[in-house]
Amino acid sequence: MRILHVVPEVYPVVKTGGLADVAAALPAALAQRGQDVRLLIPGYPAVLEAGIDLEPVMTDGNLFWGGPAQILYGRLKGVGVPAYVLDSAGLFNRPGNPYIGPDGDWPDNHLRFAALGWAASWLSYNLPDWQPQVVHAHDWQAGLAPAHVHCNANGHAPPATVMTIHNIAYQGFFPASSFGDLALPEQAYGMHGVEFWGGVGFLKAGLVYADKITTVSRTYAHEIQGPRAGNGFDGLLRDRHHDVVGIVNGVDYGIWNPAADPHLPAPYWPENLTGKAAAKAELQRRMGLDPDPDAPLFGSVNRIAWLKGVDLLIDAIPNLVQRGAQLALLGHGDPWYEGTLAELERQYKGRVVCYIAFDEALSHLIQGGADAVLVPSRSEPCGLTQLYALRYGTVPVVRHVGGLADTVVNAEPWNLAAGIATGFVFWDATSDALSGTIDWACDTYRDRKAWEQMQQVGMAQDFSWDHAAAEYEKVYQSLLR
Ligand code: ADP
Ligand code: GLC
Repeated sequence: MRILHVVPEVYPVVKTGGLADVAAALPAALAQRGQDVRLLIPGYPAVLEAGIDLEPVMTDGNLFWGGPAQILYGRLKGVGVPAYVLDSAGLFNRPGNPYIGPDGDWPDNHLRFAALGWAASWLSYNLPDWQPQVVHAHDWQAGLAPAHVHCNANGHAPPATVMTIHNIAYQGFFPASSFGDLALPEQAYGMHGVEFWGGVGFLKAGLVYADKITTVSRTYAHEIQGPRAGNGFDGLLRDRHHDVVGIVNGVDYGIWNPAADPHLPAPYWPENLTGKAAAKAELQRRMGLDPDPDAPLFGSVNRIAWLKGVDLLIDAIPNLVQRGAQLALLGHGDPWYEGTLAELERQYKGRVVCYIAFDEALSHLIQGGADAVLVPSRSEPCGLTQLYALRYGTVPVVRHVGGLADTVVNAEPWNLAAGIATGFVFWDATSDALSGTIDWACDTYRDRKAWEQMQQVGMAQDFSWDHAAAEYEKVYQSLLR
């Protein structure tokens, strides 16, 4: 099958979150299974720098008012499948975060990502030697791809289209006045098109025009069909429930493997965890925590955002310290919470460290060196950090929501007895519930036998991408039949 993945970021070239990991690993896993997979990605500076033998397949004098543009084809360093790069200096030659400038969201994001969607349709109908059978769009930034593919067919048989929701809270909503700039026909503006609450919704467009809708866990697929998590799309998703599929993300164990992780001081594996103790000591040293091998060390690697439950975590810190535990937090995001975390770090010197940055290497050391990771999300479509933690023998403490509910088995006595418990789960989105669960984890930590059993069971979990890729193949096949 020829499959074009339309993605706004890809690891290791440009990453703001889990989508980049998925955009790298899913196409590679599909290719491993024999599929003919290519990417389409905007030509941010980092993408052009990573380009190898990029050759133009299309040029345009003034694409979406960004001036001269071209679509290049070649490879990107570190990316497993070939890529089309939408190169437009006017739209994408900007440093730093791909979506946000110095004053918040780039004001022309609708043009930038309309161009991405349009490029997907151009590639669908104009290449002499490769016509995708499936165009697979990821998140709102690629949401116009199914719309452009649908509207620009001009008598060609259109490829099947798939829209994956990685997070329904990010919708790509723009004022109605922007519609005229999107190069879509007038009839595309309406309830059964890109219109959403009197404006233009990029994710909405994908959800309407795509043949299938997927999201990144079974529980989230269910949650977003209800008013609480649906963010205004629950009605649409209920109407299309036959087309909505939840597929839990995988892990690239080539990158996340404590037996061969260049960011750890020593390798370790289930039969010998001494390297994990070395990672803990190194993490304490590197982050400036007291060198205390016996203190339960909680880690957190996450965007600092309300949806991630960072406020719950903040409120749980005094109790965590009182329990004799430590916290190593890595993240960035909401400046207000960042400030509060910095204050707590000062207050609990040596016990709490909050490093505000995006640091891939440190994220690996935290996964290796922490005893447990905290993922108290209010909403979590899938979540990857708990999956990475499991492989590193680091016990996840998670809220029972979305993909966290699908991937962590709670340490209730019967699950412990059955040898299937992998983590600690709480239900209410309150700091009391989180604190109580941290207490529980601390108590269990002192019970070395129970703790080690959970580590072993966690490390044996198999979330490799091959399973998930096979599920996506079924989705594609259902459309080609
Ligand atoms: P989301 O995509 O909602 O941010 P995920 O758990 O799916 O959440 O994915 C987060 C990804 O980003 C993981 O690979 C995690 O290790 C990484 N990550 C998050 N914050 C940071 C950070 N500050 N530094 C390095 N990596 C980070
Ligand atoms: C989103 C979600 C996260 C998910 C990731 C990859 O950013 O917030 O839960 O794991 O996408 O699908």
